[in-house]
This record gives sequence, structure tokens and C-alpha cells, in this order.
Amino acid sequence: MFFSLKKYRRNIFLIIAFFFTRFTYAQLAMTNIDGRNKQNLDGAWKVIIDPTDVGEWRQVWTEKKPQKKTDFVEYSFDEGPVLQVPGDFNTQMPELAYLEGVVWYKKTFTYHKKRNRRLFVYFGAVNYRAGVYLNGKYIGSHDGGFTPFQFELTDSVAEGNNRLIVKADNQRLKEGLPGLGYDWFNYGGITREVYLVETGKTFIEDYHIQLQKGSLTKVAGWVILNGINKKQKITVSIPELKINYTTSTDSAGHADIQFSSDFQLWSPMNPKLYKVWIRSEQDTINDDIGFRSIEVQNDAVLLNKKAVFLKGVDIHEERPFHSARAFSQHDALTLLTWAKELGCNFVRLVHYPHSEHMVKQAEKMGLMVWDEIPVYQNIEFNAPGMQGRLNSMMREMLRRDRNRCAVIIWSLSNETYTTTPNRTQALIELAKNCRTEDSTRLITGALSNQSYVNNTVTVWDTIVNYYDVIAVNEYLGWYVPWQGKPSEVTWKFAVQKPLIISEFGGEAKYGSHFGPKEEANSWSEEYQEQIYKDQIQMFKTTSNLAGVSPWLLIDYRSPGRMQPVKQNGYNRKGLLSEYGKRKKAWFVLKQYYNSR
Ligand code: GCU
Repeated sequence: MFFSLKKYRRNIFLIIAFFFTRFTYAQLAMTNIDGRNKQNLDGAWKVIIDPTDVGEWRQVWTEKKPQKKTDFVEYSFDEGPVLQVPGDFNTQMPELAYLEGVVWYKKTFTYHKKRNRRLFVYFGAVNYRAGVYLNGKYIGSHDGGFTPFQFELTDSVAEGNNRLIVKADNQRLKEGLPGLGYDWFNYGGITREVYLVETGKTFIEDYHIQLQKGSLTKVAGWVILNGINKKQKITVSIPELKINYTTSTDSAGHADIQFSSDFQLWSPMNPKLYKVWIRSEQDTINDDIGFRSIEVQNDAVLLNKKAVFLKGVDIHEERPFHSARAFSQHDALTLLTWAKELGCNFVRLVHYPHSEHMVKQAEKMGLMVWDEIPVYQNIEFNAPGMQGRLNSMMREMLRRDRNRCAVIIWSLSNETYTTTPNRTQALIELAKNCRTEDSTRLITGALSNQSYVNNTVTVWDTIVNYYDVIAVNEYLGWYVPWQGKPSEVTWKFAVQKPLIISEFGGEAKYGSHFGPKEEANSWSEEYQEQIYKDQIQMFKTTSNLAGVSPWLLIDYRSPGRMQPVKQNGYNRKGLLSEYGKRKKAWFVLKQYYNSR
């Protein structure tokens, strides 16, 4: 066979093309999806349930059709069942109740191409791994179940009818974020909204508009354009304040923003938001932005230069009354209204970024927010590529929420172990990257490795040197019996910073008043109530306490909670039952918050 240069080149091209297409990773999603020109793809999607993951081998995205009488095809979207998007798949069909595997989703849509317009598909979240195909062609993939991502479809979309197919795979992964083990239900599927987004050739991809660190009047931000016309005039206006700031982007499409004003500062008592317009020569977007300053000073957290005590509650993203993945504005309003009724000014959204509805609703209601990525307990920090995955997930969270003034804390981990190889180095690197991305917020991670000896709690983890506040999950009175009077607990720290107790509490089944009330195994409300009374005694004598956030607002599903009568697959540390019924401890905490 003669050597053919032409064939050699073709083969090289095919190999490069194969690797490029097979590993086309999702883009960081454009910010402020609500402000975009978009078509909603929510609603009924046809699905193929694929628990043994043979859909890849069958290439179901090609939707083969029989050509000859002897042909047959062993899958079909159009003759199959339907699932609603957004929404986890586990709670939509009985046979999917505990599925940790693959469901293929299909949605058709019509699109008419226009000159100088670009098209993207945007996913609010797919848990855990997503593979996206358009008209039988692989578009790309994304890992991570709680942050948005997008793909550009401009060159792939067909004139008229199109077929979008998404592979959603919620198998837990040893090298995932989170890893294999966690104390919540692994709801899979397209769990948040899907949009087609149309933009101009060059559009406003991202921006950051917030007070600079330490100022109550000076805004320091930036705008980034995406597209070929990088150099454009930019206007940032706030009509209510008669602000009309102009600048221009540079050859990279970037422009700094600096202006000052006498703002009504955002706070829990006055959650003031301003309509902010950002315009380039080819794009316009608006956002409701609050202006506030958040800092630490000695043992205090300062909001707008005044010490604030964070009266919080931990919340998992689970729909009240339905025990499914929460996703809607209504779910957010229900959960956050309960938090307000409890007397909260702060919510810790555990252990992953919740829907954008939740963060925006908290902002409107004057609730400060702790936003967290699922770097949860046992993580393979030493695995190849893990630092990149940590950074990517952090950036996806920041990209989406950086203009939400209610977010005061970025949390980069929960209860990771110093014994895990490379854990501390990886978290230090992640904290530095996060601070580089956003210097306007507090950074932390929840710890649980404190020691408790002779009624003394010692926080020794060196990672706190890289955090702004120390966050400790402690379960004195539940997992850890008291060693003396709660009011006589002493705290020791390797370094002095504000302390947030980011988890405390214990279990109770709503309505349980039976069994010896002084025994944990009664799951009585009285036992849980006493934990809260004792914890509050300890709070009163903890000098650098800047906030508390109990575990947690509402009972939620967690398969590892297997006591058949008292838990039945639920973690019962809620102050409310899964139906919103108030346990006795609710009233103890409410009284404490009202007294602060
Ligand atoms: C841990 C962890 C939570 C867990 C809780 C519990 O601190 O952060 O995710 O659910 O304790 O044991 O209930």
C-alpha cells in the first residue's frame, strides 16, 4: 500500500476531531440568565430509562429508524414515558425511586436562524453528569449536580426542527464532588430549568457590580464581553440614583467599573435592591442589585460597618410536603418564610449551591446567605485533576451568584479530614483562588475535627488561617455527650477569628413524646428541646461567637437514616417535620433569636 499523505492528514484530522468532540467540556454559564433573551424548554421531556447504561453503546442519541423490513431498533424516545423538567427523576416514577444511573431525556424545539445571532443551551443544573447531543451530534459534557453550565449551539442548530438529547447520570463517583458518601438523597436528573438563549454576535457575558471591600460608597467592578467585537463603549446606569457611568472595554473585552454613590445599603432590615442597567453597543441587560459591605474585625462580622450576629438555620434543597428536589420559586418562598418565622437573618444553604430562585428570594427577604460547594467529608483531594474540578465548581458558583449581595459567605468545604492526602493544600489553593475571584465576601469551610476534652473545645485545624471566619459543626448533646455544664464550656482556637457554629442539634420525630425523655433513643421532641436549651447556655458564654446556624430547618430524606419507626429514611434533626410541623425545639430557638 502506497503511503498517502492525503489519507495521513485526513486520519490525523479525524483523530483530533474525535478527541475534541469527545472531550468538549461545558462553558461557564453566562451570568443573570433571568435577564437574557431566552426560550424556556421546561415541561414534558420524552425519556429512556437506562439503568445499565447501554444507551451509549446503542447510541440512542442517533434515534436510528428501521430501513429494511428485517431491521429493528431496541429503543425509542417517542414511544416512551415522559418526565417533567425541572425536577428530579427519582420522585416522578415509582420504578425510579432509588435509581442511581442513567435517564436519557429528549426535547424537540423549533429555531429560525438569524444573521448576527448566536444560540446557547443553558442548564440550571443536572445531577450529576450530563452528556448533551443535538440532532444526533455530541455537543459536550458537564460534571457537578448543582451549578449551571452552557453550550454554544450556533453552528450546530438546524433551521426549523431540532432534537436536544441529554444523558443524565446520577451515579455517585469516588472522585466526584461530592464523593461516594453523603447524608442527603441523591436526586438525579435535569433538576433545574433549561433555556435556549439567543444573543448578539458580541454580548455581555459576565459582570461584577458591588461595593469595594471596606467602602460604603465606592463601587469597584468589571464587565466582560463575549464575541468578536471586543472593544465597545459600556454604560452602567442606576436611574434611581442618577448614575450613568461610561467606560470602554479593552481588546480582551474587559472593562473596569468604578463609581460612587450614596446608596441605601442592603440589610436584613432594609433589603434594598436597585435596578442596574448594563449596556454595551450591542447588548443590554438589567439586574436587581443590592449594595452592602461585609467584613470581619477582631471577633465580629460587620455588615455595613456594624457588628451583626448571624441568626441562621441550615437548609437542604428539598421540597416541603413532597420530599423531592426543590427547584421552584414557590419552594424557595416556603422554606425561607419558615426561616423568617424562626427569627433568622441568615440561612446556610447546605451542602451545595441551591437554585438561583432560593438565593434571589433570600435577597428579597433580607436573609444573608452562606453559599457552599459540595466538597463534603471524604473527597479524593489527591486524585489527578481534582484541583481543577474544585476550582471549576467554585467558579461556577461564583459566576452565578457573585452579584447577589445577600451572599456574604462562600463556603468551600464541609467536614473534610486532615488525614486525607493533599486535603489541606488543596483547600488552601481553593481558598486563594476564591479570594482572587472575589475579594468582597467572607470565605470559610465548616469543620468538625475540633477536640472536646474536659469540657473544652479546641479548634486546631490550620486551614482556618486561610478563612475569614471559623465555622464549626458541633453536636454537643447529641453525637457528643456534654462533659460538664454547657455554660462552662471553654473554647480554644489556634487563631482568633469570629466563630460561627454552623451546625448543632439532634433528632426528634414530630409528635414523639413517648419513651424516656432523657434518652436519645426516644427520638422525643423533649430530648431535642433540651439540646437546644443547653446549646444556648453555651452560646451565652462563647466570647467570639458571631453567629449560629442549627442543623436544620426541616426533616429531609437521607437513605442512611434507617430506624424504621423514628427515621424511615429521614434525617430527623429538623426543627420542623417534613410537613412543616413545629417541634418543641423550634420555640426554644425562636425565643433565643428574638432575644438577640
Ligand atoms: C454533619 C454533616 C451533615 C449531616 C449532619 C448529621 O455535620 O455536615 O451533612 O447531615 O452532620 O449527622 O445529621
